[in-house]
Amino acid sequence: MGIWNFRIEDPPFPEMTVTEILSLPETADKTELYAALLPQVEAVIAGEDDLIANLANVAAMLKSAFDFHWVGFYRTLAPGMLVLGPFQGPLACVRIPFGRGVCGAAAASGQTQLVPDVDAFPGHIACSSLSRSEIVVPLVAAGETRLVLDVDSADLDAFDATDRIALESLVALIRARHFGG
Ligand code: SME
Repeated sequence: MGIWNFRIEDPPFPEMTVTEILSLPETADKTELYAALLPQVEAVIAGEDDLIANLANVAAMLKSAFDFHWVGFYRTLAPGMLVLGPFQGPLACVRIPFGRGVCGAAAASGQTQLVPDVDAFPGHIACSSLSRSEIVVPLVAAGETRLVLDVDSADLDAFDATDRIALESLVALIRARHFGG
């Protein structure tokens, strides 16, 4: 398996010269999947300066690799307020105050929230009734939560330390690229 496959297909515009294809091993082992995914995330975001474009592609890459029910970002766009950013999945709540729900808890505390059963989490915001478990990783730079990565599963207890470590590493790549490390 090569990390990169490039396909050049008679580009209609000069700037559209390369189609990037995600390359993943054929395995259900999430440690292996994350190990293959993270260098590709790093390479994709290295090639673009725009944060929104990069968050959109990261959400797409996570959705492709794991088929999560919902995966995406909320950004801090006003003090104490998260606003929906690029995502893949069903329609989502747009604004979440710090301290509300799982995303708000991650944003307010600056700590990853791993929730095996969302119905047991006080104040969980049910954007989708199908969500059963959730992990939210905040990106903290200079002491401020700038955005959170939110991943929801339709299965109970879908996330563990492997997801936490890999998703925290992924968020660290975004921090290094866009928020001065
Ligand atoms: N469940 C989240 C809200 C965001 S959606 O799941 C996309 C929460 O409690 O923060």
